[in-house]
Amino acid sequence: MEKIVFSILRYDPEKDKKPHYQDFDVEIRRPGMMILDGLNQIRWEQDGTLAYRRSCREGVCGSDGVNVNGVNMLTCVTHITEVVKKGRLVIQPLPSLPLVKDLVVDLDDFFNKYFTVKPYLISKTPPPHRERLQSPAQRKKLDGLYECILCACCSSSCPSYWANPEYLGPSAMLNVARFVEDSRDDGADERLDMLEDRIGVWRCHTILNCVEACPKSLNPTQAIATLKKLLVQRRF
Ligand code: SF4
Ligand code: SF4
Ligand code: FES
Repeated sequence: MEKIVFSILRYDPEKDKKPHYQDFDVEIRRPGMMILDGLNQIRWEQDGTLAYRRSCREGVCGSDGVNVNGVNMLTCVTHITEVVKKGRLVIQPLPSLPLVKDLVVDLDDFFNKYFTVKPYLISKTPPPHRERLQSPAQRKKLDGLYECILCACCSSSCPSYWANPEYLGPSAMLNVARFVEDSRDDGADERLDMLEDRIGVWRCHTILNCVEACPKSLNPTQAIATLKKLLVQRRF
């Protein structure tokens, strides 16, 4: 049976002075095995102390982002065969986020930035009897924006995010664009005000790592470019 080596960054804050790599052999027992299947095989059959996050197993919850062979991705929707190099996967936690244990990182800062941008409908009109309607064209403008699953693969791959701890990052800004483009929302100005600041859009240098990393094929760079344009238009 074919075996792949999973070289995993291990760190137990109660035992280890610093992180180190540990190799595990994973058996390819059926076609189409995902990286998460390999991690489960290790945890269930070889080392029950291996820590990693997962929940839905189908690319919806966003909990299992890690870095594999240098690229951020979700383990549950990535085939081992898609990314294996010379029979090996090097698996690390998402870069730049505080390490908790093994592949688990602390996402508090990431989510605090998301909450900072008020990711909910702000309406200045009283609620209608049933619902706030949109035309098909207005609804279509949200495609490519509303699908974010908050996995942090984009923000933790962004060099500006690494270098500027206060920078909101691509995920939070994609979520600003999601509401700014929503015909039912009246909060564009207060959100855009936030992005004029040094924590906002001008920290993006169009390096595009975020686009490569997004497992939902979203384009935070394009969303940021739209927000930059709106900020400039607002001045005139
Ligand atoms: S395009 Fe902007 S947000 Fe995306 S990785 Fe580059 S600097 Fe970061
Ligand atoms: S934009 Fe993509 S990579 Fe970033 S948090 Fe959302 S789903 Fe994840
Ligand atoms: S386990 Fe939910 S997105 Fe992968």
